[in-house]
Amino acid sequence: MSQKISGVKGMNDILPPDSRIWRRVESAAREVFDRFGYEEIRTPIVEDTALFVRGVGEGTDIVGKEMYTFEDKSGRSLSLRPEGTAPAARAYIEHSVHNLEPVTHWFYIGPMFRYERMKTGRYRQFWQIGAEAFGVKEPAQDVELMDLVVQFLRALQVPNVSLSINSLGDDACRPKYLAALVDYLSRHRDALCAECRERIDRNPLRVLDCKNEGCRRVTQGAPSILEFLCGPCRAHFDEVKRQLSLLGLKYEVDPRMARGLDYYTRTAFEFIAEHPSLGTASAVGGGGRYDKLVSSLGGLEIPAVGFALGVDRICLLLSEQPHADRAPDLFIATADDKAKDEALKLVSSLRREGFRIEFDGRGGSLKSQMKRADKSLARFALVLGENELTMRAAQLKPLRGGEPKSVSLDALPAALSAS
Ligand code: HAM
Repeated sequence: MSQKISGVKGMNDILPPDSRIWRRVESAAREVFDRFGYEEIRTPIVEDTALFVRGVGEGTDIVGKEMYTFEDKSGRSLSLRPEGTAPAARAYIEHSVHNLEPVTHWFYIGPMFRYERMKTGRYRQFWQIGAEAFGVKEPAQDVELMDLVVQFLRALQVPNVSLSINSLGDDACRPKYLAALVDYLSRHRDALCAECRERIDRNPLRVLDCKNEGCRRVTQGAPSILEFLCGPCRAHFDEVKRQLSLLGLKYEVDPRMARGLDYYTRTAFEFIAEHPSLGTASAVGGGGRYDKLVSSLGGLEIPAVGFALGVDRICLLLSEQPHADRAPDLFIATADDKAKDEALKLVSSLRREGFRIEFDGRGGSLKSQMKRADKSLARFALVLGENELTMRAAQLKPLRGGEPKSVSLDALPAALSAS
């Protein structure tokens, strides 16, 4: 036997029955996006590396440490996308979408790639469901997106998810905050972990959400960004909070939430599910406003806000919940090889009419076929043999209790619909 080849570490196969949960999540997302008027985009999985360096930020862990970057045959530096916002902004600029409509509402569903340390809920290929809204600077847009996430999670009955919000300020107020933060962190440098010591200069905001005990103790006393917000940023944040309350959406203000991407301005938010199945990978989604990203990528000054949800994490939460999938309507067994042709025709025509039919082309003894019928959880089973073909009728046998009844083969659709 040849040596077996395994999948790439951190990149998962999604097989049945899990793939059913994935499909349920994706169709719930499509349904809710449709209700909110968001249209789908599909951008390439590979982009120019510069897009992420400039968009997400060179100093971030995502770009600095986690990107899958390679040269193509012509020596261009390309990267597997680690997230979907910079690609969406690139496509928005490239297709001059602002000329077509003043407000653009997009969503995407697809795989992202980050070379992270793996654990439950944290993978190297993971899927995101995301939305990006371009053209609205008002807080109502931020709140609409958070409402959308809440409605989506509610539709799926994802348990115990809480919403945390923060404001990260803007160019007018954040530099003053960063200076105060760097000053504070430098004074407590020795109590920080090695990574955070290095972050003080590279990405000081990230020190705030380090999980290390020592770092947490230091950051308890760190200055809060909320005390540094300028008037317009404060007013924006107050209005976000007021509108969330207006819609009855519960939230918590978390002044330590930094998010791991450089493009944010003002509102930042995260949806957290404290659940053992996620371990410490408890963020099921996050997002925020990024009013400067489009212009920093060469577009106009277009305000924007968006979010992305981690599909792997949502599916982990849902896999703990029992849920009923649509069972097959009928299992068709064949008594002999002669019945197989007729069975094939019957299976095909019933499927054409929309019924879910199970048929095992291997045939075999009736006993083993009926065992398979039970395992399939079908509502009914039916055996086709010489007798049935001559009579053009068969016994429709309920598999979950009840009496079998004789049904003409032509009347099967009506019999299946009626029961
Ligand atoms: P993010 O917080 O980096 O934001 O990722 C969003 C979500 O993707 C996370 O909350 C998490 O559920 C999931 N996720 C991230 N990394 C992994 C991983 N390695 N394995 C499994 N799931 C993961 C963004 O990506 C932004 N683009 C969101 C955004 C859109 N902001 C504005 N618009």
